[in-house]
Amino acid sequence: MSPFLFVTDLDNTLVGDDAALLELNQKLAAHRQQYHSKIVYATGRSLYLYRLLAEAKSLLPPDALITAVGTEMYFDQQESQYDREWANILAQGWNRQEIAAIASQFTDLQLQPNSEQNPFKISYYLAEAVAESTLAELQAALKQKGFEIKLIYSAGQDLDLLPKNGDKGLAVQFLRRRWKIAPEQTIVCGDSGNDISMFEGQEKSLLVANAKPELLEWYAANQTEYNYLAKADCAGGIIEGLKHFGFI
Ligand code: GLC
Ligand code: MG
Repeated sequence: MSPFLFVTDLDNTLVGDDAALLELNQKLAAHRQQYHSKIVYATGRSLYLYRLLAEAKSLLPPDALITAVGTEMYFDQQESQYDREWANILAQGWNRQEIAAIASQFTDLQLQPNSEQNPFKISYYLAEAVAESTLAELQAALKQKGFEIKLIYSAGQDLDLLPKNGDKGLAVQFLRRRWKIAPEQTIVCGDSGNDISMFEGQEKSLLVANAKPELLEWYAANQTEYNYLAKADCAGGIIEGLKHFGFI
């Protein structure tokens, strides 16, 4: 056995089956202690919403925490050290005020709560029925003003506007480089649209059986030896994937 980098989304991926989560926690904690494997959570939640979840569920303290769909990264376990180097990368090509002003013209977009907004993330609710057309028009309006940013739609309801340099996948690449961990020694796990960016590299990737339609669609078009669709849901699927790729 050798050390690996374990990266997982939280809602409906790591969290969702309490019994399986306990079993997975035991395996991961033992691996971290014995082989110095690293545990990273990559969530769409803000730090505020992450803390609420961490109080409600038994989550192992992570070695790094990626929040707000990759726009924030924290390293110490008190989650107080927001990474400035990452923030400087995100700032390129981003102008929050101007982008929000363009998006405000789209009446189908409903702003999410303040806790879910940050300097590098603007988040809305968007109904599935109008999503396709709204996304195309918004993309075009942004492009016309010179903004090449990311529009990430998840679970048929959430729309995140992110800098071109920011998403969960790019945050994981940044971490891997900082820690000098090879993609083959990395596994990323997820269930919805905001996880797709983590699956596009050469890291091993695990889709839980309860993955959302947008992720299953992506999988159908992008099957490789690096990605694995589990038969079990949530943490049970993660255990299955860790065994499949020989990490445990
Ligand atoms: C989480 C965040 C929300 C985001 C969604 C999808 O639910 O709280 O702001 O839109 O993930 O990325
Ligand atoms: Mg999720």
